[in-house]
Amino acid sequence: MTLDAVLESVSERITPEAAERERLQTIADELAERAADVIDDLPVDADPVLVGSSARSTWLAGDRDIDLFVRFPPGLERERLEQYGLEVGHAVLPDGHEEYAEHPYVKGEYEGFEVDLVPCYDVDSATEIRSAVDRTPFHDAYLQARYTPELAEAARLFKRFTKGIGVYGSNLRTEGFSGYLAELLVLEYGGFQQLIEAVAEWHPPVRFDPRGDGGPAEIPPEEAEAATFDDPLVVIDPTDPDRNVAAVLSEANLARFQHYCRDLRSAPREALFFPEEPEPMDATDVREHLTRRASHPVAIVFETPDIVEDQLYPQLQRSLDGVRGELGRRGFDPLRAATFANRPGEKEATDDESTDEADHAVLLVETSVAELPAVVRHLGPPVHVGEHAHFFYERYADDETVYGPFVDGNRYVVERERDHRTPEALLRSGGLFDVALGAHVETALQNGYEVLVDDEIAALAEGFGEELQAYFEPTV
Ligand code: CTP
Ligand code: MG
Repeated sequence: MTLDAVLESVSERITPEAAERERLQTIADELAERAADVIDDLPVDADPVLVGSSARSTWLAGDRDIDLFVRFPPGLERERLEQYGLEVGHAVLPDGHEEYAEHPYVKGEYEGFEVDLVPCYDVDSATEIRSAVDRTPFHDAYLQARYTPELAEAARLFKRFTKGIGVYGSNLRTEGFSGYLAELLVLEYGGFQQLIEAVAEWHPPVRFDPRGDGGPAEIPPEEAEAATFDDPLVVIDPTDPDRNVAAVLSEANLARFQHYCRDLRSAPREALFFPEEPEPMDATDVREHLTRRASHPVAIVFETPDIVEDQLYPQLQRSLDGVRGELGRRGFDPLRAATFANRPGEKEATDDESTDEADHAVLLVETSVAELPAVVRHLGPPVHVGEHAHFFYERYADDETVYGPFVDGNRYVVERERDHRTPEALLRSGGLFDVALGAHVETALQNGYEVLVDDEIAALAEGFGEELQAYFEPTV
């Protein structure tokens, strides 16, 4: 298939039909009216505004997500903004629940749509924002003034493509492209194909400043250091130049994206936009991989801290980096590591016989070394450094528990008993708490944790079959 044919076919699947557009419009109007009615009874003036992809016709057919913002006067204290915002939210979405970003807002279902009702300040310019969400209406205005139906089609293709390859979403779990970033990039290049072609040749860091009219411009490597942002992709927010719209995009996801742009160009296929869901792994599959790899995996399993996703994943990652780093320094030579978590309430729908069992999080490190000698080499100072060297010698001279001191090269050396001979011994000891852990992860671990080793890892297939599939059969 040619790329043109693939894009045409994908486009057909993701372009909302007239009926879907009308329905969304009706519901959005209805929500705005309901919000306006509640606002009438508040002691302040405010106005509801539809934002996001549903306001710009860049949503994917079948997506049922409406972002409705309520703009309050900038003079209002934050406490009142929160209070009134929630009041409007709960009245408009009676079955809704509160979520928390920079301030609380209400999320709920309305006529089959997933609605976010978010309060913000009606500031004069995006550079005067009082809260991150205040930028959103400016983003919308910027894009709406420049978008055409052709660009909207390109933006939908770009979103579907990045979703297909797993890099769409600006939450801190995904670390991918936001809808706004997707739309700015499409605008910058004027079309999906142009964008893909260009990305395939990028040499990060890549920097765009949509405020200029110079078109896409890459920073030459020698100037990269001088750039204000040190992210691999920099897209200056045209509504607030101090901000990089691509700040959340990770280096790995940019590389992944580049890989698939090349892949799409050389072998165009719909499967890149609509990939098949891989089968979750079962315990037997996991055991087979463990036998084949003959490595030494260790996992820490604990109760998932009850915090929002944007806090949880960075904390898990930080904790994993800490544990992996410590195992490395102790000589266990980590090969690969991963963290996964089920969050409270996340799987309720799939598991109707569910007990009250808590949701778990996992820090998995696969080490190359399973066991080290009982002794570890401890290097002393060079013999010629006088007092310092003498002190070292005296300290160990009569110590029956060590080998030495003896001289190796010009230094004193002893071989003393190693603290932990295996990764699991280290992880089971208080030594775990000497590594840098995310704050809530540390608290959860203090409440108890389990350490699984080698074949015991297979037990994780229940609950983490998809994650283990991705771990043991990695793709780009
Ligand atoms: N937004 C927000 N808080 C929310 C929901 C949305 O601040 N709880 C803002 C986002 O920052 C974004 C806009 O509202 O600027 C729309 O968010 P989102 O739905 O994530 O992106 P869309 O552009 O609508 O893209 P799509 O829904 O198609 O993924
Ligand atoms: Mg949206």
